[in-house]
Amino acid sequence: MAAAFADTGTLGTNGRAVRASLDAKNTRSRELSSRTGELMNMGSAASLEMPFPVLIENSDGPFLWDADGNKYIDYQIGFGAMVLGHKHPAVQSAIEDQVHHRGWHFGLHNPNQVPLAELLIKADNGVERVIFCNTGTEATMYAIRAARAFTGKWKLGVFDGFYHGAHDYGIGLAVPDSPRERPTYMTMGAGVLPAIADHQLMLPYRSDAAFDLIRQHKEELAMVMIEPAQSSNPHMNDEIHDFLHELADVCRANDVLFMMDEVITGFRFAYGGAQERYGLTPDLATYGKILGGGLPVGAVGGRADIMALFNALGSDPRGIMSGGTFSGNPLTMAAGVAQIGYLDTHRAQVYPHLYRLGEKLATGINEYARSKNMAVQVLNAGPMFQIYFKGDEIRSSRDLNLTKPPAETEFYLHLLDQGVLVPGTRRSFVSYAHTDELIDQTIDIVRTCLDLVREDGLI
Ligand SMILES: Cc1ncc(COP(=O)(O)O)c(C=O)c1O
Repeated sequence: MAAAFADTGTLGTNGRAVRASLDAKNTRSRELSSRTGELMNMGSAASLEMPFPVLIENSDGPFLWDADGNKYIDYQIGFGAMVLGHKHPAVQSAIEDQVHHRGWHFGLHNPNQVPLAELLIKADNGVERVIFCNTGTEATMYAIRAARAFTGKWKLGVFDGFYHGAHDYGIGLAVPDSPRERPTYMTMGAGVLPAIADHQLMLPYRSDAAFDLIRQHKEELAMVMIEPAQSSNPHMNDEIHDFLHELADVCRANDVLFMMDEVITGFRFAYGGAQERYGLTPDLATYGKILGGGLPVGAVGGRADIMALFNALGSDPRGIMSGGTFSGNPLTMAAGVAQIGYLDTHRAQVYPHLYRLGEKLATGINEYARSKNMAVQVLNAGPMFQIYFKGDEIRSSRDLNLTKPPAETEFYLHLLDQGVLVPGTRRSFVSYAHTDELIDQTIDIVRTCLDLVREDGLI
């Protein structure tokens, strides 16, 4: 059996009780994870600050069940990918049909790629051509390669608080005490070539100083990449709208490519993603998550002249290499066509529902925190949200602490114990399968959990 929670002796009564409860109700997860612990390292997918991960075994709609049969209202929702909820009948039957009748993973191009490419091109202004890959990480890697090949320049502009995937160019931090308006770049974690920092320009998020930096570095900047809402601090408002538009204009005026990383926001912020929501046409856009109907997927889309380089290896000196054993595989494509096709025909119902529930949850929690004078707030960009243990305004990642306050750790343990699942990353999403009743229930549970943490003297 895996280690149970250690009693550090400094815990409050509720902190002790929640650990005892989680230990007792997760015996199979503990037993199995003692074996996985010897076999695999769970990395950032591990759930919360637990001595063992809760292993998820089953799903349906907005719910998950763990290996011990405990049921959760799920706000991880496949890191955002399961926008229709788990086991949605339209997606499930497309997967079953493909598996039963045609098989999976052929390796060469297959007919299922055609409708998915057509759906993506029709959905987004900035997409004239597409390539498929297997993750959002691959998508941004290929987009970066394409931008460098196309422009003949090497540097990339990224915004403090960014995440563009797990590769060396997708992760990085602003040096904590570097100036807000001129943040310095540092690589994240060990094993990343230090020289990566020389090829990245860290830009200040939501600050006009970013535009001056782009102008100053235009001779070396191939592309600026941005998440239309940063998952580290999700916001959606007029100021972000204006910032994104000015960013696109400044890039264009300075011959720097403008890329929107729509891995999260694609088919979530609107059917046409953040491009539709904000009325923008980037040079390149990257996708993942929702596009694959819950199977691994990535895609790069963009201007035909840039995308042509993916077909030009050997024939044009700027031609680029792309590959991937499983890229565009027929099973993922079938699931993607089913999910995106459903979103296409039901967009008038799906998106208002996602936004309404996202707002309701954020408002319900924020009102409670305010009424009880708790330094707690929810940030949400429509259906994407996160709870922060901080009272002051969070404008950007520079307002966040790198270390999590103890109240946050305690809160999420209580939340899990009470049947609400949020991943270790804390990034949370509502899906089309969530209902008003579930949101009401979640707000009640959140209030209870906040009260339990306060009783222990931590809020
Ligand atoms: C904005 C953004 N880009 C890229 C990625 C990487 O996608 P994946 O996890 O599929 O590799 C993520 C993952 O969450 C993301 O949020």
